[in-house]
Amino acid sequence: MSMYRLMDLRERPLGMSAHQHAYYGIRDLPERDYVALFVEENPRFLQRRLERLLGHRLFTRIERHRDMLWYVEISRAPQALNPLGVGDLMSRDHIRLNRLFLESERLLRARQPEGVPLMTRFAIRMARHIYIESQLIAQLLSSDQLGDMQHPVAIMRRNHDEIARELATMVQFLDAHPVDLDGLIVSAGLVAAMGLSSEFYEETRVFPLWDHRLRARGDIGKILRDIQLQLYASIAPRGH
Ligand SMILES: [Fe+2]
Repeated sequence: MSMYRLMDLRERPLGMSAHQHAYYGIRDLPERDYVALFVEENPRFLQRRLERLLGHRLFTRIERHRDMLWYVEISRAPQALNPLGVGDLMSRDHIRLNRLFLESERLLRARQPEGVPLMTRFAIRMARHIYIESQLIAQLLSSDQLGDMQHPVAIMRRNHDEIARELATMVQFLDAHPVDLDGLIVSAGLVAAMGLSSEFYEETRVFPLWDHRLRARGDIGKILRDIQLQLYASIAPRGH
């Protein structure tokens, strides 16, 4: 499985530019690994500067995190950016969700109004994530496995049901006018904490089972593409 290094280029040593900081993260990166970056400058300019410094081509996957902030996966070889399996793909989405929550929470605590649409985005992405895991991917298992209430997937689904209930409360906070920011922070914090606990369980108990099962099916490429389409479909939050 490829390994990643997470870097937020906004948090860099004083006097160091974003591309210099990224350079030290990528310079000794093994070919199979990638760096996940949060960056405010144009990622294409960043890529070109890094390629000049390193003297070789780099490969990127770029996603707009919010206005003036980008999420970029960057590697020395294209295969590092192609998910190796469902576990790899969904683990990467865990990272995105966690960062999205922390960024939204920081803005809300600072009473910045842009924290609300960002938290809406977090809620939508979390709902999409647990839907994919609970419904789409779980259906790939055999009916015997799905009927076993102690199977790791059944336990994961129950965790997701609890997250979905708290998500419904969170959406009520988001829909209120004016938004109760303190209530929203508490509710979103609960969703994020439950998500973190479920993530650990999934990455250690559920994903290895899925990947084992999917490798035996032979159509893993198509399944990964379908999931990616659902995960990264654009989001148009209501009313924002
Ligand atoms: Fe997950």
